[in-house]
Amino acid sequence: MRKKVTVVGAGNVGATAAMRVAEKELADVVLLDVLEGVPAGKALDLAEAAPIEGHDCRIVGCTNQYQEAEGSDIVIITAGIPRKPGMSRDDLLSTNMRIMRTVVSEVAAVAPKSILIIVSNPLDAMCHVAYEASGFPKERVIGMAGVLDSARFRAFIAMELNVSVENIHAFVLGGHGDTMVPISRYSTVAGIPITELISPDRLAAIEKRTREGGAEIVGLLKTGSAYYAPASGAVEMTEAILKDKKKILACAAYLSGEYGIKDLFVGVPVKLGARGVEDIIEIKLNEGERKALNHSAESVRKLVEDMKRLG
Ligand SMILES: NC(=O)c1ccc[n+]([C@@H]2O[C@H](COP(=O)([O-])OP(=O)(O)OC[C@H]3O[C@@H](n4cnc5c(N)ncnc54)[C@H](O)[C@@H]3O)[C@@H](O)[C@H]2O)c1
Repeated sequence: MRKKVTVVGAGNVGATAAMRVAEKELADVVLLDVLEGVPAGKALDLAEAAPIEGHDCRIVGCTNQYQEAEGSDIVIITAGIPRKPGMSRDDLLSTNMRIMRTVVSEVAAVAPKSILIIVSNPLDAMCHVAYEASGFPKERVIGMAGVLDSARFRAFIAMELNVSVENIHAFVLGGHGDTMVPISRYSTVAGIPITELISPDRLAAIEKRTREGGAEIVGLLKTGSAYYAPASGAVEMTEAILKDKKKILACAAYLSGEYGIKDLFVGVPVKLGARGVEDIIEIKLNEGERKALNHSAESVRKLVEDMKRLG
């Protein structure tokens, strides 16, 4: 049986994710959007690349026809508006909250067994909306942010040391915002802690660049935000689930007391497999790291409360 992945939002992140899913031959893809023509056009364009890229995944695009998503194994949700220069992720809150609610209700009706990978910002808050609107168990609602933030951290470490990105393991925990927490102590280059290879000053600069990684790209692009790496992040999670890899990745997961945090989506290391979040890995944090994680979680909680006020 072929696997099926639906991508809602055929914009920059969504279309790139659809392309990567197909080119990695992970699943057939349905690309959905509110726009007329755009999802169908992008899907057709991708299907026409298939003979050159050498894959047989079927890609279809449609406008608001959620029946096409029926039976999806995974639904990646990128629907929403992206950040513009000077705009914080939180500014997106009220618009994207309403979009997320509509999209997830439609998805849950046709693909009740699917696993949701949420990408739209503000990420952690959107996971809450998706969790509530879907009624899915917490294991099947997962936010993509930590994979991207960790990839940025890894890329910057590789640039600093002029070594292969493949040698680098790094974690960024917390909410997907300015309060995210790069955990240098658990980040390694071929098993060697980066704290032994990079001076504290340089490391602080790399952590800062990681925290501001999204804004750096928004500032350069001027219109819209990053999408190649975010799409890669969503597809790495998709692959881990479809192939039941039991891969440990930093993802926004619903915490029920882990890390001392309750009833909140926050970025932590999780084990991703066929059932979605199969485990939450609790790593030991020192006082500074724990404080930073709590601070980050509090900023997520504030957004969740703001959403309640917005209704
Ligand atoms: N989690 C992360 O790390 C991360 C990284 C990058 C972008 N994002 C977020 O992902 C989202 C998408 O970013 P993008 O660059 O692809 O934006 P984009 O504007 O290129 O695409 C968004 C698409 O969503 C569609 N859309 C809007 N309302 C919809 C609805 N009700 N149903 C279906 N589709 C709808 C739009 O028509 C558009 O095609 C944004 O919210 C952005 O902030 C998150």
